[in-house]
Amino acid sequence: MFRIIKIFSQLIEENWKLKVIAFWILSFLPRKILFFLQHNITNRSSKKILTLDSDWLFILEKINKLNSDNHIKLLEFGAGRNLAQNIYLALSHKKLRQSVVDLNPMLNEKLTLQAYYQICKLLNKKPMNNFNNMKELLNLLKIDYLAPLDISSFLTKEKFDVCISKDTIEHIPKKNLYKIFKNLKTLIKKDGLLISCVDYSDHYSHTFKHLSPVNFLKYNSFHWFFFNPPNHFQNRIRHNELIKILKDCNFTQYEERLEKIDDLNFNVSKKYREFKLEELLTVRSQILSKNNI
Ligand SMILES: C[S@@+](CC[C@H](N)C(=O)[O-])C[C@H]1O[C@@H](n2cnc3c(N)ncnc32)[C@H](O)[C@@H]1O
Repeated sequence: MFRIIKIFSQLIEENWKLKVIAFWILSFLPRKILFFLQHNITNRSSKKILTLDSDWLFILEKINKLNSDNHIKLLEFGAGRNLAQNIYLALSHKKLRQSVVDLNPMLNEKLTLQAYYQICKLLNKKPMNNFNNMKELLNLLKIDYLAPLDISSFLTKEKFDVCISKDTIEHIPKKNLYKIFKNLKTLIKKDGLLISCVDYSDHYSHTFKHLSPVNFLKYNSFHWFFFNPPNHFQNRIRHNELIKILKDCNFTQYEERLEKIDDLNFNVSKKYREFKLEELLTVRSQILSKNNI
């Protein structure tokens, strides 16, 4: 059985449309089956951390500039599986207290411990040995993991100095982003920071290298619905649309770093024809905004 699944998964790795079908089938089954397959069959989620991610460096650079004699309170939405970013930040900034929220409780103990040892190695730090499990490690690193929890309805008396998200915004339906940013305004202190690191590329192109990084812009909304299963949801948001949402929610933009591809080798669907070429070519961003109200 395991062998059949492995062969099927190899076939899927060669054809992105088969992957779409597999995601659709899995979307009708409990989510933990998808997590199990990703962890045990495709091994994508256990990829070794060999370098420090440029988004982590961007976030740390901005946090280091905050003047605080007390602890800096950080909120993240969209934690993912291994908290690698939070582990990196905790090891690099002694005064940080992190609350990390996720809609799906998909945190994996083995991947988190693995990430801890790999990041210690990258930072040339001796790993601590006074913990027995992930929970104790997260306590030592002052990371509070909160899941399942939807950031758009997160209520707390606490106010945060900074809120971050990485590779998450592109997975949230656009209409929900308004609700999320409006709620974040109540959670972030006045003049507090919002740091958004966004991947605007077609995520199928991450494994299918022959696809354009923005292949999904070919499809109209009707066709894209079928290629976009809910457990691998991509909102196809473009950078200028996100900036507009942030402005509409009264976040003031301070800095942005963008990554673009050189060219498009296909015609985009009607929906995207009114966009400037530059907006279609943008595949990543690091955005620093401020909550100045
Ligand atoms: C692709 S993962 C990002 C993982 C992580 N930030 C990283 O860089 O590895 C996106 C995460 O966002 C979470 N998410 C989506 N909508 C959310 C919401 N409304 N509130 C909190 N988390 C959400 C998903 O459950 C998922 O774990």
